[in-house]
Amino acid sequence: MKLRAKLCIGMSLAPTWLSGEGWRRPDSGIEGLYSSDFALEIARRAEAAHLDFVFRPDTYYLPLEPLEQSFGFSSLDATLMMAAIARETSRIGLLTTISTTFSAPYMAARQLMSLHWLSRGRAGCNLVTALSGNENFGLPEMPTSNQRYARAAEFIQVMRALWSSFPAEALRIDRAAGQYADTTLIHPIDHKGADFAVKGPLNLPEFPGPRLPLMQAGGSVTGMDFAGSVADMVFAQTPDMAAALAMRQELSARARAHGRAPRDLRLLPGLSLYLGRTRAEARDLFLSTHARVDRAQRIARVKAATGLDLTGWEGDRRITAADLPDTPPAARSPTQAAALAAAIRRETPRVDDLLARPEVLASLHWQVIGTVEDAVSEITRWFEAGAVDGFVAVLGGAPSSLDLTLGELIPRLAEAGLFRSAYSGTTFLEHLEQD
Ligand SMILES: Cc1cc2nc3c(=O)[nH]c(=O)nc-3n(C[C@H](O)[C@H](O)[C@H](O)COP(=O)(O)O)c2cc1C
Repeated sequence: MKLRAKLCIGMSLAPTWLSGEGWRRPDSGIEGLYSSDFALEIARRAEAAHLDFVFRPDTYYLPLEPLEQSFGFSSLDATLMMAAIARETSRIGLLTTISTTFSAPYMAARQLMSLHWLSRGRAGCNLVTALSGNENFGLPEMPTSNQRYARAAEFIQVMRALWSSFPAEALRIDRAAGQYADTTLIHPIDHKGADFAVKGPLNLPEFPGPRLPLMQAGGSVTGMDFAGSVADMVFAQTPDMAAALAMRQELSARARAHGRAPRDLRLLPGLSLYLGRTRAEARDLFLSTHARVDRAQRIARVKAATGLDLTGWEGDRRITAADLPDTPPAARSPTQAAALAAAIRRETPRVDDLLARPEVLASLHWQVIGTVEDAVSEITRWFEAGAVDGFVAVLGGAPSSLDLTLGELIPRLAEAGLFRSAYSGTTFLEHLEQD
């Protein structure tokens, strides 16, 4: 059963529609990737479509291998990008990303509260424990998952304490009396914990309006429990509806365990959209985007997911259930691996057909390769089943996917009564709480 009447929709500003071969198209605009105009233009259009937020995932390291063929992990700093967008927009939420593993909570609290002031209540933060980058921060090894989540919990505790250490009411600005601030209301936090020692107070008052919403990205049980304790939203990879339903259920249990209502924690998986005027057009867009994923890479992906090694197999040969190893390897996404194995059992596909499947080629996100109608019906199906509370649009293939999403898909969802047709609030939290 769905927990809210309307979808919550965000738009990823990671330029996924330019990945693979997408950036090589004449209309890609790739040369402007590190300019503020690039993200700004998209944010303006997302605001015109009344989306809840724009969102920038972020990392602090640069693997060189993907950079040879695409922009890979290179990007502007997410929070500075949002500050540039803040000046030029007035309603849309601005969701940045901060790594709790590598950042200092005082700096993060200050940057986020600065963004909240600059945008007049529209800042939000995706808290990530991160997967790599330790060597850029003097750490010879990546801390374990448990260490990272323990630090994340303390990190958010310190940030919240800092935000309330200089409450909005302390700001008096009383010209007649000559009093700028009532310092009896401003307190150090004197935090001393396992990972941080922070005296406080923060050198910036709290924004006098709704608080800054938090997102969590990390799918382990520990990650979901962390989300249950503090997050307003969870960004996730749910390749099929069963995975989303299971995660939604787990998140509800985790929210309740922390004394919160399930509807206060929104599951917003990435939704990868390769849209075309026809299904054939969308399929061509998808295949041409991934044209350079060669056969060896595809075979390696099937092997990693199912344990089946197709090296040397003829393209026409059919794969049957009997070919699947009894014990599949520990896959990065067990759901996706199971989906691939199920497709083999069900369809006994030809090797070439299996190697062209979306599960082999693309991300672990929920994915629609089709028309706007296909996307509307898929989103409606997942939402009505209570599997998701909305999604983060992660666009694929070409700028045309972006045009179809913002120009047609979102208006269609609004016409169907599943999404707002105008903003009723001016802050990020107000958008999230609008039912
Ligand atoms: C959907 C999703 C998005 C993520 N985005 C980021 C990101 O932008 N930057 C980053 O450093 N880590 C990112 N991560 C990594 C997580 O922060 C986390 O370190 C990782 O998923 C391991 O935690 P887990 O075992 O709970 O999933 C992301 C993870 C997921 C599942």
